[in-house]
Amino acid sequence: MSIIDRLTEEHNQILIFLDTFEKDILNLMEDNIFDKNNFLGHIQFIHEYADCRHHQREEKILFKYMEEHLGLPAQKLIRHGMLVEHNLARYYVQELEKCIHNYFSTPSPQIKLSIIGLGYAYCDLLRRHIEKENNVVYPFALRQLSKEIFEQMKQEDTQFLSNEI
Ligand SMILES: [Fe+2]
Ligand SMILES: [Fe+2]
Repeated sequence: MSIIDRLTEEHNQILIFLDTFEKDILNLMEDNIFDKNNFLGHIQFIHEYADCRHHQREEKILFKYMEEHLGLPAQKLIRHGMLVEHNLARYYVQELEKCIHNYFSTPSPQIKLSIIGLGYAYCDLLRRHIEKENNVVYPFALRQLSKEIFEQMKQEDTQFLSNEI
């Protein structure tokens, strides 16, 4: 399985997660249902899977090779697009985690609004980000990077995943 196939499959898992996460945000908004551990479980999935596993491999392997071999267009797309969005996603999640703890200890309409706003912003950002990667970034890499580079990336990716276990 190529690194692109693996990353695309992870996008599918992340999209499934976002639907579940969004349902819990709606439950909080409409019916005041708030289960702290459930929300913290979502934060954990984002940290461990969406960020440490997925975004890190894009940054350390795929984007690194694209920047090295595909020149200025790739650099612009990655630095001013993808990396900015990865960092914005990290900011949303960092703030969201604080709000979840605060809402549990001292619930208020303001903190509830922050959880809903940050949570929805994260879902929307990630959906748009994944769409761009699936339709623009990954096809660009598939068209332009050589077989040898794909082989090299696959080895590095396998190594990264085996260190994770
Ligand atoms: Fe990404
Ligand atoms: Fe991605």
